[in-house]
Amino acid sequence: MNTLPQNRFKCIFPARSVNESFARMAASAFVAQLDPRVDELADLKTAVSEAVTNVIVHAYAGTEIPPEERVVILCGELREGRLAVFSVKDRGKGIENIKQAREPLFTTSAAEERSGMGFTVMETFTDKIKVTSRPGKGTSVRLYKRFSE
Ligand SMILES: Nc1ncnc2c1ncn2[C@@H]1O[C@H](COP(=O)(O)OP(=O)(O)OP(=O)(O)O)[C@@H](O)[C@H]1O
Ligand SMILES: [Mg+2]
Repeated sequence: MNTLPQNRFKCIFPARSVNESFARMAASAFVAQLDPRVDELADLKTAVSEAVTNVIVHAYAGTEIPPEERVVILCGELREGRLAVFSVKDRGKGIENIKQAREPLFTTSAAEERSGMGFTVMETFTDKIKVTSRPGKGTSVRLYKRFSE
């Protein structure tokens, strides 16, 4: 079986909120080659945006990681059957309990008025998400979205 992606990209940028819109636009520009439906494109951007926002808000908070190492690693792949796979990775503190983190309304930032709905939004607006994390090493969120013909 040939699992090589038909196309792919990788970019690394500082985990700063000024880069949220960059990430949305990068994801959007990458899937433009599929000529996606407007609603599906909007869903993808929303999901990518939640994952990137999580890196910006949570991944490095309370750590001693120096600013220049606080990065978002965004990768995209196009696979057969109009399947787009994005990964949003960080080298931050990681998530101790992924199952709990993915539950609707779970947040460690209630004081900052976060609603704990980011992972739920990512699940809702994609076909599948996969979260892996190593405490002290970082987190990877993979978003799978198949675009209709
Ligand atoms: N990249 C990450 N690194 C470390 N912790 C994370 C990361 N992403 C998510 N988390 C943890 O998972 C929790 C749940 O994330 P989720 O996006 O669902 O909610 P939230 O970010 O707290 O709130 P909202 O997304 O609604 O603003 C977060 O509160 C945080 O503790
Ligand atoms: Mg969030």
